[in-house]
Amino acid sequence: MYCTMKPLLAQAMADGQGVPAFNIHALEVVPVMAKAADAVKCPVILQVSVSTAKYIGYSLLASIVKKVSEDMTVDIALHLDHATSLEDIQEALNGGFSSVMYDGSKLTFEENVSNTLKAVEMARAAEASIEAELGIVGRGKIIETYPYTEPADAAEFVRRTGVDALAVGIGTHHGMYQAKTNIRLDILKEIHEAVDIPLVLHGGTGVRDEDVRECVRLGMHKLNFGTELNVSWVRKAKDVFAKAEPDDTMRNLMIECNRAMTETIQKKIQLVRF
Ligand code: 13P
Repeated sequence: MYCTMKPLLAQAMADGQGVPAFNIHALEVVPVMAKAADAVKCPVILQVSVSTAKYIGYSLLASIVKKVSEDMTVDIALHLDHATSLEDIQEALNGGFSSVMYDGSKLTFEENVSNTLKAVEMARAAEASIEAELGIVGRGKIIETYPYTEPADAAEFVRRTGVDALAVGIGTHHGMYQAKTNIRLDILKEIHEAVDIPLVLHGGTGVRDEDVRECVRLGMHKLNFGTELNVSWVRKAKDVFAKAEPDDTMRNLMIECNRAMTETIQKKIQLVRF
């Protein structure tokens, strides 16, 4: 069934499990991700960046995810990842997304609270779920040290905004970087003790398996994986397309790439459901 991420995260929290959130980079992989999760009976959050949502089209993507969900036995949410503008959030909600993230992590604390409150109001009006971010998860080719989320700030932020899930900075980094393995589980533990809503792991690619599990135990119930899925698809594509003839059916070439991505997805699912 198509749903918001709120019941998925509530159930995961009650069971001490995680819900994987996979980044879609092209329409082709929507049924691939849904079937990979359905095959192992795992509810799943499919998410897109604003750029991918605009590339595919908000309402086209939402209609396809809704339709695909009807054929699955597991629940599926469609989530807008890292929106920094309220206009993009409104566009996703109008298009039929069941969940959104407002990312005000680069703003001051007060600006982040104030904009997040507006996004919460918009999401509630559309009966969608909402995630926000406090503290910074790095991005880009250069690894920098970003400030970690202060546990007391996280508690105040959640109390004042009423968000459904909170992304926190504990040293992870979006993309394939070794630096992300140095995550601060001690800080996560303090945040977990201070906050009673599900926390979100961003930059899941490259985090050590045992650390992913520990993050689940320490309150992270939404775990984001993007780059690693993309890498498994593209790596296979480089090989398959290099050997292909121009009149080979695209479908057959893509099936092999989709299989490679499915394997990565199912490995990640095993990590967060234990
Ligand atoms: P990775 O690309 O590092 O897996 O991060 C995904 C993510 O957190 C999307 O917001």
